[in-house]
Amino acid sequence: MSRLVVVSNRVALMEEGKQAAGGLAVAILAALKKTGGIWFGWSGNVVDGESQAEPSRTDVGRLTYATLDLGRRDHEEYYNGFANQTLWPLFHYRLGLISVNRRTREGYERVNAYFADRLEPLLRPDDMIWVHDYHLIPFGDELRRRGCSQRMGFFLHTPFPPPELLTALPNHRDLIRELCAYDLVGFHTATDLRGFCDYIRTETDGTVEQRGAYGSAVIRAFGRTLMAKVFPISIDTEALESLARTAGRSRQAERLRESLVGRRLIIGVDRLDYSKGLPQRFAAFEQLLESYPEHCNRVSFLQIAPPSREDVPEYIAIRRELSEMAGRINGRFAEFDWQPIRYLNRSFGQRVLAGFYRLANVGLVTPLRDGMNLVAKEYVACQDSDNPGVLVLSQFAGAAHEMGEALIVNPFDIEGVGDALQRALTMPLGERKERHAALMRTLRRNDISSWRESYVDALTRAPYDFPVT
Ligand code: G6P
Repeated sequence: MSRLVVVSNRVALMEEGKQAAGGLAVAILAALKKTGGIWFGWSGNVVDGESQAEPSRTDVGRLTYATLDLGRRDHEEYYNGFANQTLWPLFHYRLGLISVNRRTREGYERVNAYFADRLEPLLRPDDMIWVHDYHLIPFGDELRRRGCSQRMGFFLHTPFPPPELLTALPNHRDLIRELCAYDLVGFHTATDLRGFCDYIRTETDGTVEQRGAYGSAVIRAFGRTLMAKVFPISIDTEALESLARTAGRSRQAERLRESLVGRRLIIGVDRLDYSKGLPQRFAAFEQLLESYPEHCNRVSFLQIAPPSREDVPEYIAIRRELSEMAGRINGRFAEFDWQPIRYLNRSFGQRVLAGFYRLANVGLVTPLRDGMNLVAKEYVACQDSDNPGVLVLSQFAGAAHEMGEALIVNPFDIEGVGDALQRALTMPLGERKERHAALMRTLRRNDISSWRESYVDALTRAPYDFPVT
């Protein structure tokens, strides 16, 4: 069996007390636990001067972490710059927020080349290389230039925009040519796959051969043949279900329950990111209190939002906006013994969150655009099946493609989300149970193991022997 080499920008070394904010890290660890191999990428540290010359290696069982510290300039241009001020807003359909300049684009290409130089000596001929996310699109092409002919797959954890948006990026063709250096390119949803296929059709001389009902496609472009396919990421459903059964009795969950003194709870958990639709969500909660005043003093909204990418101006701005909104809404509706919004800029471990999810009557997940959104799945898996809460889910989260039994909302429609909250808070037990059971069937069928297995299985079969059309 081939070794798996996972490459991602962030490598979550399992240090005690350190928790990764994003779902990606949790998913990758679950994926590597069984196969063993290497997990290669940035250490998360920024150092003065040049980026680290050779990777630091840490062995944990059959898994080797190989990580590199980034120099200040590399971090600024590659991570803060092109990855998070150009690609992130672009891939989340936010053209108004993209900043474009040659310096950060060059930094992005330079760091990808530097990563490839450092990984190449660690590779064996039979390895399978699995590269993750928008930070590392050129990485496979850089390895190919160094003569690597191993099977290489890429998985995009964000949405992939339609070509009308993507073409706003100068030299967009170079980025897509680099993406085509992989053998397998995975997306969360059929919408993302369609964006990629449409780009190949409209912006290149390449061809797209669709397979299935937009589940996969054979792409021939830039002199290469590759497979593009939908693999919706998921969670460790069973583990989370059993964690939630006891986590509801943890000290923190107990404290939360006591603090509610019989009031109902709406919960939101997101990185503090403008893609998550938090101002609209706060406004929708305000709308609920305004339109359905019977909830005043009867419902609390707990929004957990750990800060993220704090050097990037748009993240500083959203943080300020949300603090102001929470203060204003609380000032408007609070009673001397009730605070409507409990807004926390910090993160919690999985166990504490599981207990909080189980306590919450409503899970409110309303991104304006999201690759998948694992919080939606985690919330459902943590419910008590005898008395489950209701998931209110944005139609623009990848998760909505699989979770039609949630209350699906348009996050831009503040009044509509307010009404959905009302419906969730008053939904009869029978309907809650039915919806929850249907969602759980999906989560049990497609969990993190089946996601990993189907991706690795598809990559194992590369290079594909496609009939010539
Ligand atoms: C999203 C991205 C991940 C990223 C995570 C946390 O989920 O798709 O690639 O790791 O956010 O963001 P950060 O910038 O802190 O790594």
